[in-house]
Amino acid sequence: MASESIHGMWSSRLMFILAAAGSAVGLGNIWRFPYLAGENGGGVFVLVYVGCIFLIGVPIMSAEILLGRAGRQSPINTMRELAATSGASRLWQGVGWMGAIAGFMILSFYAVIAGWAISYIFQMGSGAFIGADADFAKSAFTSLTGNVWSVVGWHTLFMAITIFIAARGVGKGLETTVKYLMPALFVLLVVLVIYAAATSGHFMEGVSFLFSLNFEKFSWSAVLSAMGQAFFTLSLGMGAIMAYGAYMPKDISILGTATIIALLDTTVALMSGLIIFPLVFANGLESSAGPGLMFITLPLAFGQMPGGQIFGVIFFVLVTFAAITSSISLVEPAVAWVVEKMNTSRPVGALAVGGLAWFVGLGSAFSTNIWAGITIIGDMTFFDTMDYVANNIMLPLGGVLIALFTGWILDKKIVEDQMFADTTYYPLWRFLIRFIAPAAVMVVFIMTFI
Ligand code: TRP
Repeated sequence: MASESIHGMWSSRLMFILAAAGSAVGLGNIWRFPYLAGENGGGVFVLVYVGCIFLIGVPIMSAEILLGRAGRQSPINTMRELAATSGASRLWQGVGWMGAIAGFMILSFYAVIAGWAISYIFQMGSGAFIGADADFAKSAFTSLTGNVWSVVGWHTLFMAITIFIAARGVGKGLETTVKYLMPALFVLLVVLVIYAAATSGHFMEGVSFLFSLNFEKFSWSAVLSAMGQAFFTLSLGMGAIMAYGAYMPKDISILGTATIIALLDTTVALMSGLIIFPLVFANGLESSAGPGLMFITLPLAFGQMPGGQIFGVIFFVLVTFAAITSSISLVEPAVAWVVEKMNTSRPVGALAVGGLAWFVGLGSAFSTNIWAGITIIGDMTFFDTMDYVANNIMLPLGGVLIALFTGWILDKKIVEDQMFADTTYYPLWRFLIRFIAPAAVMVVFIMTFI
């Protein structure tokens, strides 16, 4: 098997960690986690979420890295080759295909939300929110999302940035981006947590909301969304981490690295909660505001705070950086496949994949304006349908299949060869990946659809 990927390699362990943490840390941490925690009552949700991250997420992330590094190709070709060398059915390649399709679906709504975030950098910067009231904050959001030209414009800008970076390749594009944006992101996060602690006067309320356990709030539906969120936030189940694993040097411990990435991701999610909830409570706003929490409630809070204009800009710059380092991982499996299959260059592959993702994304961009009345499944718009089908069906399904393939199908020699640096925790991982992770995901799956 190849010892290097034709697409390039991460130059060090740190670069792999930054790239994978860059993929993991995104809108899932800053936009989705706080509003889900808010809707599901805080502490208990957070506890279940953290449990899922470490019992299911870390083992599956390790499996994805392992498969990628063993195959050294796009997830589709990696799965085909590993199935062949293990004497298993060619159908396992379908895991790679489903992942590439899920990537397009996730990116379709992801790029639209990221576009909104870019527009809020300018809205916050203009000072329009200073002293604004709730009606203003709401109408600012609906007039942005209701205007098809603005939404498509920002969405197009975000996709163009993604295509540009992907076109430059693994070293010059992806690695250079994460090398600068990830440290910047951490600095901005720390600045904002200090700001929330120093100026809100309600920091401890935020802390207790996130960490105090109130079992009256326990419900199965909260458990289900905590588990789905664990997949989404770690970028699992569609081959993004598998693609990144293909560029990882051979001498690096997989389990240790996956644990660090999960710790970083969880830290960012909790810090985002510690930025958002104190601001929400300080201004007497609703913690359970749903998806609008980041776009309506937070700008409103910034508008009431000293220095809110500049810190509001900083916040949305942070969100944009986080979204960029994630979106490049959403296109990578498909870009790598196009380059391998068509024997073409990165720019051509990135344009083809990004162009198609942009086109699919128009459906999500239209969902809050000209297509607002069009529903696909139940009362869900195109946007909601992409989010729902990709996150609740395709990612868990992909995760189960990846766990089963790695735990039961893949030639044990390949597994042990990849895990040579992880002898201490290898037996625990093998137990989790063969039994616990697939069983737990199946339970979620069944509970969601019964
Ligand atoms: N993890 C990212 C976030 O939290 C989103 C993301 C990037 C993703 N790549 C992915 C989600 C692959 C699922 C699969 O925002």
